[in-house]
Amino acid sequence: MGTGAVAVVAPDRAKQRRGGHLWKKALLHFSLCFVMGFFTGFAPSSSSSWRAATQHPPHRAGDHLAASRVAVDARVNLVPSPPDTAGEVGLVGAAGGGGGATVDVGDDDEEAGPRRLLIVVTTTRSGAGERRRRRAELLRLAHTLRLVRPPVVWVVVEPVADAPATAEVLRGTGVMYRHIAFKPEENFTTAAAEAHAQRNAALAHVEKHRLAGVLHFADAAGVYDTGFFDQIRQIEAFGTWPVATMSAGEKKVVVEGPLCSASKVIGWFSRDFNDGTTRAVTYNTETDLNPAGVAGTRVHTIDVSGFAFNSSILWDPERWGRPTSLPDTSQDSIKFVQEVVLEDRAKLKGIPSDCSQIMVWQYGAPSSQ
Ligand SMILES: *[C@@H]1O[C@H](CO)[C@@H](O)[C@H](O)[C@H]1NC(C)=O
Ligand SMILES: *[C@@H]1O[C@H](CO)[C@@H](O)[C@H](O)[C@H]1NC(C)=O
Repeated sequence: MGTGAVAVVAPDRAKQRRGGHLWKKALLHFSLCFVMGFFTGFAPSSSSSWRAATQHPPHRAGDHLAASRVAVDARVNLVPSPPDTAGEVGLVGAAGGGGGATVDVGDDDEEAGPRRLLIVVTTTRSGAGERRRRRAELLRLAHTLRLVRPPVVWVVVEPVADAPATAEVLRGTGVMYRHIAFKPEENFTTAAAEAHAQRNAALAHVEKHRLAGVLHFADAAGVYDTGFFDQIRQIEAFGTWPVATMSAGEKKVVVEGPLCSASKVIGWFSRDFNDGTTRAVTYNTETDLNPAGVAGTRVHTIDVSGFAFNSSILWDPERWGRPTSLPDTSQDSIKFVQEVVLEDRAKLKGIPSDCSQIMVWQYGAPSSQ
């Protein structure tokens, strides 16, 4: 504090003598700043270095306000009058009206136009052990989703018996959600069969309500890089990326996913980090549907944790070059999507462009069938 005191009691005489000089200096500074500001106004505002310098942490108050406002707006938009007859007229109407798929959040974003809706679908498993973990897992995923820029709608599917407890968890998360109580017609013999049926229930809901956006199946126990969700927003048709699968008991890590070049998928790989082995298959030609088909290793299916897609495909399959008379499109949407992702490779976008970065981690056995 000593130096501060000295500065305050500086002699008046000196102050007066320098008074005129200070004024001139101030004027000069002022005009310099004015000129700089004037020209800065012409600088492109979307320059990445400027953005990097002015990035705010996701917790600033404005975001919360924006998020709650969006939640209200989006809820209004997202509850469209469901076209019960999915005829041609319904399709045209949904396409022309935009279907309330995007929400203009009106913040200081550099992107042109409103952000697309992210539809994050989480399925659950029945069984006592699963039920005990559910609250913790849902809360953790909710915390991740709260960091994602709106609009995001979280579709949670679960057995009808467990729904009341989960409804209470979901209400407190601050994430916009749809809670689907699932009442199966059969007793499932495997967890995979149950998840499959729940995914179809979620897709039926998305289709019925025309929730247009980018849809991804997020496991409740999954771990996500927050930048991931901004990346998948860019998906036009389908997108895929590498996923790390960790098995807690065996301390194993396996990464599986696409081999990419300039966002194009040129093959698939599976890398075991414990023994250092990598298996990879690449497409032989541009039109080759099954990579390394000659070698006998074919990619038959893609795990749901490894892809996202434009949900419009659910009610607009014709546009993606598929026959409308597909036998089980409406019954088994998830199978249809998994097939179409692998078949329509030209529309499949690798994320990030060289697929080198792992942004999704999950627990459990790698589900390569
Ligand atoms: C499912 O199992 C329960 C008993 O665990 C049984 O009461 C019910 O009838 C079964 N449902 C079907 C469709 O098999
Ligand atoms: C999503 O798919 C629909 C066609 O089903 C298409 O009209 C729309 O442009 C796609 N969205 C984006 C962002 O590419």
